Amino acid sequence: MKVDPSLVHRLFYPQVPLVMAAKAGGRASAMPVVSYLSVSEKPPIVAVACSPQGFTCRLARRSRCFSLSVLDREDASALSKLATTSGAAVKDKLAQAGLAHSDGMKLKVPVLGAAVATLECRLLSTSRLGDHLLLVASVEAAYTTGGFSGFWDYHRYRPILYAGWQEGELSRYPGT
Ligand SMILES: Cc1cc2nc3c(=O)[nH]c(=O)nc-3n(C[C@H](O)[C@H](O)[C@H](O)COP(=O)(O)O)c2cc1C
Repeated sequence: MKVDPSLVHRLFYPQVPLVMAAKAGGRASAMPVVSYLSVSEKPPIVAVACSPQGFTCRLARRSRCFSLSVLDREDASALSKLATTSGAAVKDKLAQAGLAHSDGMKLKVPVLGAAVATLECRLLSTSRLGDHLLLVASVEAAYTTGGFSGFWDYHRYRPILYAGWQEGELSRYPGT
């Protein structure tokens, strides 16, 4: 059965979403992302594909840095809220979603109090690929709140397994 080319990305589901967050000019914004990858281990480099229309993407390009956060399943509803409003409409989209944040250890990026893992990323390059921008960034700091010692302990961290945006809400792989 042929797959509509615009739906190819859904063949990758379920995926673990991260929260990409950035701040600039007194504004803070964040959005869930699944189009990310680890590009290099030494040095650590990551990439995220962002829609150029996204406000978080605009802030990340302006500040030249952003954070990536891993959230536990208990924060799935906050993650969902980040997908339903635009950061352009509010001063602090993270606060509006109930996610407290502070400055990064190394970079001026929002670090989420609820994150079980945080990456502070410095933007290296931006390339247009189709309808998205590929943001390539070096990881300047990475830390967790525990539950990770080389591998995740899934008794302490319970990943969100995103299965698509269906009927106006975030759907998850059954049982997760
Ligand atoms: C689980 C999930 C994953 C998403 N992944 C991406 C992604 O990788 N890239 C992207 O551009 N948008 C992605 N989106 C859509 C953005 O999160 C959404 O458009 C968001 O509202 C943008 O907010 P902003 O304009 O405040 O930055 C995803 C949405 C969800 C629910």
